[in-house]
Amino acid sequence: MDDAEHRKNLEHEKKIFDKLIALKLDRQSVLVAVGGGVVTDMVGFAAAVFQRGIRWIAVPTTLTGQVDAALGGKTGVDHQGKNMLGAFWQPALVMLAPAFLTTLPLRERRAGFAEVVKTGVALRPSILADLEKDPDSILVGRSDTLLRVIKACAREKLAIVARDPGDRGVRAVLNLGHTVGHAIEAAGGYRRWNHGEAVAMGLLVECSQAADYGKMTVDEKDRVARLIWRLGLVPKERPEPERVRGFLRLDKKGKAIG
Ligand SMILES: NC(=O)c1ccc[n+]([C@@H]2O[C@H](COP(=O)([O-])OP(=O)(O)OC[C@H]3O[C@@H](n4cnc5c(N)ncnc54)[C@H](O)[C@@H]3O)[C@@H](O)[C@H]2O)c1
Ligand SMILES: [Zn+2]
Repeated sequence: MDDAEHRKNLEHEKKIFDKLIALKLDRQSVLVAVGGGVVTDMVGFAAAVFQRGIRWIAVPTTLTGQVDAALGGKTGVDHQGKNMLGAFWQPALVMLAPAFLTTLPLRERRAGFAEVVKTGVALRPSILADLEKDPDSILVGRSDTLLRVIKACAREKLAIVARDPGDRGVRAVLNLGHTVGHAIEAAGGYRRWNHGEAVAMGLLVECSQAADYGKMTVDEKDRVARLIWRLGLVPKERPEPERVRGFLRLDKKGKAIG
């Protein structure tokens, strides 16, 4: 399938449905999603609604997928807004194989660290400390530290999901950076910035607001910002603030659908 973010929509989802029907799949069939967050979101959604729900297995091949997107059962597509249509549908199995990451282009690999930093800020500061030790080698290598970080993120996410699988309460912490991040993705037509880049910029804005409201200390906010810049998560080309504000205003609830 074409897994471009701007094709994570109903039109392309329909192609998956048509294929499942053409292959004469039934309720015993199992879908296996091998790919990044776009693939696992879309294939998971197909599994959720095909014949009212069949089993699926997630094999995430991006860092974003391994630390976040393939875990937790949120599936769906964009429709007039990010992740507007979808379902909670847990995979029967998630297989994490860091070997996939060796072929990932640097830009995509970098982007995955936005969700890693988010998890560190929201749930476990030791993840931030691991990143700070040697940001350059963790960016490019297959280090033990990276493996530890992936496992820690996966564990933290699954623990939160177990407490709030339907996203009605505590799971909202995982949306840190995403209210602004989604507005940035929209402002770029889902092409200019990838999800991770948008979330990294969103984290900078939201942490700075958190510090203004006294929810974070200035030192904590500075630490996060330093790490985001150090890892090179902010792209050279930045969105115009007024355009992003416009999309934020459209988000009337002020809450991201992460
Ligand atoms: N469901 C959730 O809980 C959740 C959480 C976070 C993000 N997401 C969603 O995930 C999407 C972003 O996912 P992503 O960052 O994985 O990007 P992606 O799925 O767009 O993949 C990025 C690019 O990398 C390529 N690719 C994938 N694996 C590769 C590999 N091993 N080697 C080389 N190239 C590879 C893909 O073909 C694609 O071009 C967004 O739509 C976001 O909304 C969902
Ligand atoms: Zn995200």
